[in-house]
Amino acid sequence: MKLTIIGTGYVGLVTGACFAEVGHRVVCVDNDAAKVKTLQEGGIPIYEPGLDELVTKNTASGRLEFTVSTAEGVAKSDVVFIAVPTPPQPDGSVDLSFIEKVAREIAGAMTSYKIIVDKSTVPVKTGDKVAETIKRYCKAQVDFDVVSNPEFLREGFAVEDLMKPDRVVIGVRSQRPVAAMREIFEQFNAPIVVTDINSAELIKHASNSFLALKISYINAISVLCEAAGANVQEVAAGMGMDTRIGRRFLNAGLGFGGSCFPKDLSAFIKIAEQVGLDFRLLKEVQRINAGQMDRFIKKITDTVWVLKDKKLGVLGLAFKQNTDDVRQSPAIELCQRLQKEGASLRVHDPKAMDKARAVLTGVTFVDDMNDVAEGCDALVVATEWDEFKKLDLDRARRALSHPIMFDGRNLFDPAEMEQRGWIYKSVGR
Ligand code: UDX
Repeated sequence: MKLTIIGTGYVGLVTGACFAEVGHRVVCVDNDAAKVKTLQEGGIPIYEPGLDELVTKNTASGRLEFTVSTAEGVAKSDVVFIAVPTPPQPDGSVDLSFIEKVAREIAGAMTSYKIIVDKSTVPVKTGDKVAETIKRYCKAQVDFDVVSNPEFLREGFAVEDLMKPDRVVIGVRSQRPVAAMREIFEQFNAPIVVTDINSAELIKHASNSFLALKISYINAISVLCEAAGANVQEVAAGMGMDTRIGRRFLNAGLGFGGSCFPKDLSAFIKIAEQVGLDFRLLKEVQRINAGQMDRFIKKITDTVWVLKDKKLGVLGLAFKQNTDDVRQSPAIELCQRLQKEGASLRVHDPKAMDKARAVLTGVTFVDDMNDVAEGCDALVVATEWDEFKKLDLDRARRALSHPIMFDGRNLFDPAEMEQRGWIYKSVGR
């Protein structure tokens, strides 16, 4: 099928590449000319495992192309996906101005029937607004359908999540676009859930909020584990074997961050507020999440005492492993708070150093994780990168003035660390 994706961020670019990979012809549109030029020349503006190969291969085969022109994208395709940012506003509600602008642009360029699919995360009832806007700004009297198709990909696993989704949600206002939408997703071999458009929009916010709730739940349990001398990982393992619960998203630590969970939680609380529901359960999820960071910093100061004039080595800057994304990263927040207390920092991340440079000043960026501990008073793990497990622990111990590690992601085994001579503090163990 001929598909256009407007917006080449994480969602738009990976969706475009995966659609091309299963045989569709895809035009990716972005108003950032520099980004489009990079993509046209074979560069990838984000780090996402496997994406490079998909983009190179499908661009070479002619199935994937990039342009700055929405009009060109709309003219070339029957189905136009909207995958532009929906950033948070200061009061927690969602800024829908990019969606509205793109809806107007699509309307202005339409000369024949189009299916307009919203992939961006939006508040319930946005589909209705998009439909109204398109109707208002469409110069030609052409028919169209608006569809909601929320995206559930995780950064760092985006290609995998897109190629093998747990489910595909398609929200429609009439049955007319359903066959085309099914055809688009046929190759992905996933269950397709067809709902009304409002339900589809709600599924996205309800799912992300539930996952955030699951993380806060285990983080609250981690507080109990510390008080009781229990081990949160063993509790999570035991709970997770119940298939109704599941082990995933039960990792206690510094709390969740990233461009989705914090934003989607605030938005969902706001959406609920607008219909008269005080969603206190989700406010508590936020409160527990913030508390994890406070407790972790207290753990550091309880051991190191005064942070002024102390040097700390920090492993991890990305908001989670397998990504270069530092938006709303707990690791960055931790660094900034430690700096505020007067600590100087030596930091390392396998992929996020460049992006971190833009938000973190006054720290020393270290290229090799094994050099981070050099001359430091303690080591801090802030992101759950698997490769940190391969840290040369003996070398790090020798490089530190005292063998102290604060592990905010529970990467190491406490008994083993103590055996190796470390003062080792983790979360909920
Ligand atoms: C999330 C959703 O998972 C995805 O479905 C949606 O489309 C976008 O938002 P993402 O933000 O990429 O994806 O990352 P995710 O893997 O969900 O992790 C989010 C945050 O939660 C990270 O900061 C991570 O470190 C933290 N996390 C995750 C935990 O603290 N514990 C866990 O058990 C899982």
